[in-house]
Amino acid sequence: IAPTHLLADGNTLPAVGLGTYPLKGAEAVTAVSAGLSAGYRLIDSAVNYGNEDAVGEAVRNTDVPRDEIVVTTKLPGRAHGYDSTLASFQESLDRLGLDRIDLYLIHWPNPGDDRYVDTWRAMVQLHEQGLARSIGVSNFTEEYLIRLQSETGVLPAVNQIELHPYFPQLALREFHEVHNIRTESWSPLGKGSDVLASPVIVEAARSHGVTEAQVVLRWHVQLGSVPLPKSADSVRQAQNLDVFGFELTSAEMEAITLLGRPDGRLFGADPVTHNEQ
Ligand code: A2P
Repeated sequence: IAPTHLLADGNTLPAVGLGTYPLKGAEAVTAVSAGLSAGYRLIDSAVNYGNEDAVGEAVRNTDVPRDEIVVTTKLPGRAHGYDSTLASFQESLDRLGLDRIDLYLIHWPNPGDDRYVDTWRAMVQLHEQGLARSIGVSNFTEEYLIRLQSETGVLPAVNQIELHPYFPQLALREFHEVHNIRTESWSPLGKGSDVLASPVIVEAARSHGVTEAQVVLRWHVQLGSVPLPKSADSVRQAQNLDVFGFELTSAEMEAITLLGRPDGRLFGADPVTHNEQ
């Protein structure tokens, strides 16, 4: 089981979580059940992954006490707006079959619609009612975070962003640190790219006697970001959680961060132009 971070709202967040995209149906139930048995206590879902039902089933059927599990889901772009956020939240609860969501995120800012501030006001209400224990956002830039702060007075506890060695997000992480926003990393292993074959990562893996994936996940942990690696494979699930028995040197940390590229986004989805439905 991973150690935890204390969030600005007083709740705790495990230092590593289980990603679930693009698992669905029975495969997702099996993967999440296995993850909970392996020690994961943070599960990352979203309306647009189409797997809230499966995640809920695994969470309801596990022996792990409900209070120990941080269930995350994310509001889709088409539900932006105050009333539609409240309605979409209820639909997520129904699909999950749970009576609260532990971490509820706005999936994308969709700035073209300009409704993320109203959406955030509804999230704040859900938090005050205790229905969403922690609230946060995903794919928000510094500009959008500042706007939430100035118009509502409430900053997200978490911002989940694309983060991996090809896209290390130095400036945004620095902003998060100053404002006590916890960073979560999506695509932490840089899925679809050759990042795990980078010589500096291969060399660090050899020197610490761990796998390349463990080196990259440990890099996230030492940055203070919570990686959400997806795996349905129980050996990899266990490996991805087992990153607390070694430490990267500051030279290794810096060398991995230097793999960053200006065009390092792997999915090309820029929050400023991407409007998710
Ligand atoms: P699999 O599900 O077969 O384990 P990301 O989280 O960055 O999107 O990456 C997910 C991808 O990385 C999946 O294809 C997953 O495959 C693979 N993966 C997950 N854990 C590991 C690991 N420990 N070593 C190698 N590949 C991994």
